[in-house]
Amino acid sequence: MQDLKGMTLQTTLMHAPRSGSVEIIEDALIAIDSDGSISSVLKPDDPAYDEAHTAAQSANTLATTAPRQYLLPGFVDLHIHAPQWPQLGKALDVPLEVWLQQHTFPLEARYADADFARQVYQELVTSLLAHGTTSAVYFATIHQPATRILADICLQQGQRGFIGKVAMDNEDQCPDFYRDANAEAALEGTRAFVDYVLSMPGNSSALVRPVITPRFIPSCSDTALAGLGALAAEYDCHIQTHCSESDWEQAYVLDRTGRTDAQALDGFGLLGRHTVLAHSNFLSDDDMDLVRSRGSGVAHCPLSNVYFSNAVFPLRRALEKSVRVGLGTDISGGPSASMFESCRHAISASRNLEEGVDPTRPGKLRGTPDSRISFREAFHLATAGGADVLDILVGRFAKGYQFDAILVDADRPAAPIAVDEAWDSQDDILQKIINGATRANITTTWVAGRPVHQQN
Ligand code: GUN
Ligand code: FE
Repeated sequence: MQDLKGMTLQTTLMHAPRSGSVEIIEDALIAIDSDGSISSVLKPDDPAYDEAHTAAQSANTLATTAPRQYLLPGFVDLHIHAPQWPQLGKALDVPLEVWLQQHTFPLEARYADADFARQVYQELVTSLLAHGTTSAVYFATIHQPATRILADICLQQGQRGFIGKVAMDNEDQCPDFYRDANAEAALEGTRAFVDYVLSMPGNSSALVRPVITPRFIPSCSDTALAGLGALAAEYDCHIQTHCSESDWEQAYVLDRTGRTDAQALDGFGLLGRHTVLAHSNFLSDDDMDLVRSRGSGVAHCPLSNVYFSNAVFPLRRALEKSVRVGLGTDISGGPSASMFESCRHAISASRNLEEGVDPTRPGKLRGTPDSRISFREAFHLATAGGADVLDILVGRFAKGYQFDAILVDADRPAAPIAVDEAWDSQDDILQKIINGATRANITTTWVAGRPVHQQN
């Protein structure tokens, strides 16, 4: 499919603008401005439809998709460790604190080599676009040149990238070979990277944005955490960190600060409207109230939680408390780059939480009632929900939103999805896509109307 800036696309669209419900429009007409934003979405019964259709046809600006192809919003992956791409799928049999020291810090230290970084980051961004991830929230490493390379690559390849130079200066928790020299270095490096992104040539639409990135409380000194909170206020930019991830992690924070992660982060000025808290499995009700009152959001990473978190995130409870939530892959804590898989794991984790997992316990005592989420809710979280956490106009097909989208083809020979249009409802078809699609089904990915991944 071609560049859709300035075009009108006639297609079957499927999106989940509100949590819990989906909207599916056959033969929708989506008009896209020259800047890649959506100027109108028309249904066939709309009075303006026929005229818009004829006008686009005669201006030669009408594009159409084939039967059994479906347009979905691009995915918003709220939590990715870019440097961990070479580790995807391995080293998952040790706890978080061992995994960090034995596997992850040694790997991340290799990004002192800019050539290595360039090679990995090119492949990562290309792969994520092929998986339909149009907005990606990245932890990079402590290194200035490598992190700038990631920003350059997102801009070149056309991915919406939210990128942070990782800050980690705590001598007790970070090895000599991979640590900011001190709090000042962590803060200076963060400021330098933020300034770099804000003045990148070709980034006037803020496709790439800087993120203040304390790795997590254990990795950072109090001085660094407070300084990063002040920087976030100064620049009014996004913040990302890990929060209440595992038994070890939350116990460490409680022991060091006397507070929960959420309380401590708030004390350092790190809980704001644009904060993304990865995991947050152990948030208490009070923590959730605090997170909601600050307008911060959670990146729920269900697959990663299986390996590192000792518990399932209480997603339903968070949603009921109006905490904003999206989904993340947590590459490489989660060994899959696919946000379709994140949806599936969010659904199955919620079902396990609801039903319980220990067959020796009586049914009534086994689980946490009313915890399940539907495929519609998972789809919402992976698209519009994530966009709302970031406060950006993507994830829905509506006037004023950016045209960030994927085209899902049910008929790829290597990956057929058994859609029966005569028998399946539209809702069934979407459910089959959420439960069954892979990157092989994504024929085109667009960001702001520009095709950024294509397979014939
Ligand atoms: N906590 C601190 N660093 C990390 C990381 O790289 N991955 C995960 N899952 N948790 C962390
Ligand atoms: Fe993580």
